[in-house]
Amino acid sequence: MNPRTALVTGASSGIGEATARILKKEGFTVYAAARRVDAMKSLEAAGVHIVPLDLTDEVSIRACVDAIFARGGRIDVLVNNAGYGSHGAIEDVTIEEARRQFEVNIFGLARLTQLVLPNMRENGFGKIVNVTSIGGKMSMPFGGWYHATKYALEGWSDALRIETAPFGIDVIIVEPGGIKTPWGSIAADHLRTASGAGAYAAAATKAADGMAKYYAGKQLSDPLVIAQTIGRAVTASKPQTRYAAGYLAKTILLLRWLLSDRLFDRMIVSMAG
Ligand SMILES: NC(=O)c1ccc[n+]([C@@H]2O[C@H](COP(=O)([O-])OP(=O)(O)OC[C@H]3O[C@@H](n4cnc5c(N)ncnc54)[C@H](OP(=O)(O)O)[C@@H]3O)[C@@H](O)[C@H]2O)c1
Repeated sequence: MNPRTALVTGASSGIGEATARILKKEGFTVYAAARRVDAMKSLEAAGVHIVPLDLTDEVSIRACVDAIFARGGRIDVLVNNAGYGSHGAIEDVTIEEARRQFEVNIFGLARLTQLVLPNMRENGFGKIVNVTSIGGKMSMPFGGWYHATKYALEGWSDALRIETAPFGIDVIIVEPGGIKTPWGSIAADHLRTASGAGAYAAAATKAADGMAKYYAGKQLSDPLVIAQTIGRAVTASKPQTRYAAGYLAKTILLLRWLLSDRLFDRMIVSMAG
């Protein structure tokens, strides 16, 4: 039997890059996709195929899928991992940027999934991994637009799981906690740009500094922790519907479940300093 084929988005960095490597080691034929193709040179050297992908661009999404089908004819595993945090006070983030946030974290991902599903249905097999976040079940101040996309992805994935199960397709939600990647500095930069001046400036600047420090620190988990979780999930005959992994993921989700909204808010405010 030919090796299974996997497409991993957001593979130029962090969790996606680590996942592409792990799936390659597991014996998959792996396609790594992102905008920065140069940043995927080391994956290419490891035998991973590189495809350009901009999730805000329909033409790019189609071209990515067509290139893989032209080469291999099938996609067995789709890891929808690409995403970023468009942080800033809800009032400050422009609606244009908020739409872009949804375009990358939801609509681009959804369009890609729509284009892959017919092939998975024909094959009677598929694993779709949607990388959400513990931030798809709890919100931090100044992350409102980001959390809205991740909450949306949680609900969308639950419906997709039920709709596609009869075709032999598993939909798997992966909820990382704090993972040491450039994600934190990118979100902190967005926060400074959106809210570095104006009514929220003092709290937003403090939050951005805290976030940058937290992501530069040592306590966060290595992206390998999530990559290994994804590797286990896509090779399991009966994967779980959800996997929470990485720094504080399970603890925070348990507290969110146990505490009232007001108590949880107080905990978040004290955590955010
Ligand atoms: N790090 C954490 O603590 C954490 C926690 C929970 C959830 N997550 C989630 O995990 C996923 C991976 O994040 P990460 O931590 O690995 O962050 P990262 O290192 O910043 O990687 C993000 C990836 O998304 C890609 N991307 C961004 N915009 C894109 C676009 N328009 N089109 C295509 N690709 C795009 C980037 O590639 P290009 O810039 O080259 O396009 C990059 O490869 C994200 O969905 C994130 O929300 C992360």
